[in-house]
Amino acid sequence: MRVFMTGASGWIGSAVVPELLAAGHEVSGIARSEDSAARLRAAGVAPIAGSLDDLGTLRTAAEAADAVIHLGFKHDFSDYAASGRTERAVMETFGDALAGTGKPLLFASGIAMVAPGRPATEEDASPFTGPDAPRGGAEALALGFAERGIQPVALRFAPTVHGDGDHGFTAVLAETARRTGVAGYVGDGANRWAAVHRSDAGRLVAKALENPGVANIVHAVGEEGVAARDIAEAIGRGAGVPAASIASEDVEAHFGWIGRFFSLDIPASSTLTQERFDWRPTGPTLLEDLAAGHYFARAAA
Ligand SMILES: NC(=O)c1ccc[n+]([C@@H]2O[C@H](COP(=O)([O-])OP(=O)(O)OC[C@H]3O[C@@H](n4cnc5c(N)ncnc54)[C@H](OP(=O)(O)O)[C@@H]3O)[C@@H](O)[C@H]2O)c1
Repeated sequence: MRVFMTGASGWIGSAVVPELLAAGHEVSGIARSEDSAARLRAAGVAPIAGSLDDLGTLRTAAEAADAVIHLGFKHDFSDYAASGRTERAVMETFGDALAGTGKPLLFASGIAMVAPGRPATEEDASPFTGPDAPRGGAEALALGFAERGIQPVALRFAPTVHGDGDHGFTAVLAETARRTGVAGYVGDGANRWAAVHRSDAGRLVAKALENPGVANIVHAVGEEGVAARDIAEAIGRGAGVPAASIASEDVEAHFGWIGRFFSLDIPASSTLTQERFDWRPTGPTLLEDLAAGHYFARAAA
């Protein structure tokens, strides 16, 4: 298949690309800079110059492909509403480009607040609808594309896709501990985060592309829920600082923008995904990854 990707140069995308190439697919990807284009070329991806704001370029590239995998996202948490507007506009563009073609449209999504108080499953619909919702309500919008003759598949990634080289939430928490001298958790730290190793996430996306009709919601989740306190204690051991509870009124001051995410309880199951796609997570657990030291080697360098 000719697969067009956004975010092919990113943390998850760069784990997906080798899986697609190994399966014999041709991959093209949007590149917003010469640096990204060079990284894509080195990985075996044909770069297409443009950005998530170049909707015409995205449309043309999607029309020319047999499938689209959308993993690009503006991770600007200081203006998350703007990121959501872009996400929605990109999704509307892919909807128009692929309508009536039967082509698969795989896209990144999340699990936060999908099922408050219990592990979210693949059968829980996203509560976020409409353009003002988190991520622009893009998951609900795109799943509706099934009625337009598209095969949409929501790739719901655990809130931490961890591994050596991660620059996402877990890396930010490790850096926050190093900077403040405290590995914080909120309240009693009983809230949980689902987790998945990057290698497992990459394999799963490739499997979902091969079988887009199997399920329209996929949970890239290796561990159902790791307690925030256990995460903080592992970060404390790695960073050589004490773990401590942060009172809810001090969360913003201690953690900054990541505090509101680290306060959330985001457990999730992948039982159905594992059955449906014959996928078994085999990578290190989050606590094993934190014990391996790479999150702290980089910070100390
Ligand atoms: N990592 C996680 O733990 C996690 C958890 C849950 C959900 N997700 C979601 O999964 C998806 C992939 O995440 P990730 O961790 O791989 O993100 P990432 O490492 O930050 O990569 C983001 C990708 O988007 C591209 N991008 C950003 N802004 C762009 C723009 N304006 N125009 C074109 N491309 C742009 C980046 O290109 P450059 O290479 O040029 O920067 C990069 O390829 C995202 O939707 C993310 O929200 C991730």
